[in-house]
Amino acid sequence: MEDKRPLLQANELYKAFYHPNIVQILKGISLQVHAGESVAIVGRSGEGKSTLLQILGTLEDICQGSLVIDGETVSPSNRAGIRNQKIGFVFQSFHLLEDYTAFENVILPARIARKPIHKRSAAYQRALHLLEEVGLADRAHFHTKLLSGGEKQRVALARAMCNDPCLILADEPSGNLDHQTAGIIHDILLKFGNNPEKALVLVTHDDELASLCSHRYELRDGTLMTDKTG
Ligand SMILES: Nc1ncnc2c1ncn2[C@@H]1O[C@H](COP(=O)(O)OP(=O)(O)OP(=O)(O)O)[C@@H](O)[C@H]1O
Ligand SMILES: [Mg+2]
Repeated sequence: MEDKRPLLQANELYKAFYHPNIVQILKGISLQVHAGESVAIVGRSGEGKSTLLQILGTLEDICQGSLVIDGETVSPSNRAGIRNQKIGFVFQSFHLLEDYTAFENVILPARIARKPIHKRSAAYQRALHLLEEVGLADRAHFHTKLLSGGEKQRVALARAMCNDPCLILADEPSGNLDHQTAGIIHDILLKFGNNPEKALVLVTHDDELASLCSHRYELRDGTLMTDKTG
């Protein structure tokens, strides 16, 4: 009966860095994430969680293996488009353009996708709505360098949702935030992950957040295992 759409399929991913000696970080990672699922990846520092998430987000090259996002096999020629249209990435350290306003940051993916962004456009209205949703309507026209850490992370979340992606990847999205602000971020992310058309993959050290996800894996020694504590 179960016939959920696979949004992410990673097949036997291998990744090594050469610096100057070879360090094998990922040793055959396979992962399937379907629409409506939220996946937490936990693991000790340095195990390769950020590396894996960057690979899943098409931001980092794979040494071996393949990646399929929403039915499309990622290749050098389609990866930028897939990243822009199907994936929202939330970095631990925000990666916002500090001299741009919150609104300008949020609408940037639409600009990259060459959508109309004039005041009456769908993208413009959506960006405003997303800022409202993350509780920052009154900060829309502030330069992001003036915002607090929690506010910046909420702008980053709104930006990740700008092009209505089917997949959000979040790397320790609340790692730097106080408990209450972290809770706001978690609620927005989990709401996204619970949408039957969408999926969420996050890396976290926060057990409470991991336990709220529908699936939980531990990255250890380059492989992904079902986390027994999950
Ligand atoms: N570009 C790179 N060149 C060489 N080594 C790298 C590179 N990027 C990451 N590494 C190494 O790969 C390993 C995994 O790094 P990664 O950032 O993925 O770990 P992590 O699990 O996210 O850790 P943390 O929980 O501390 O964020 C580390 O030992 C790191 O030094
Ligand atoms: Mg990391």
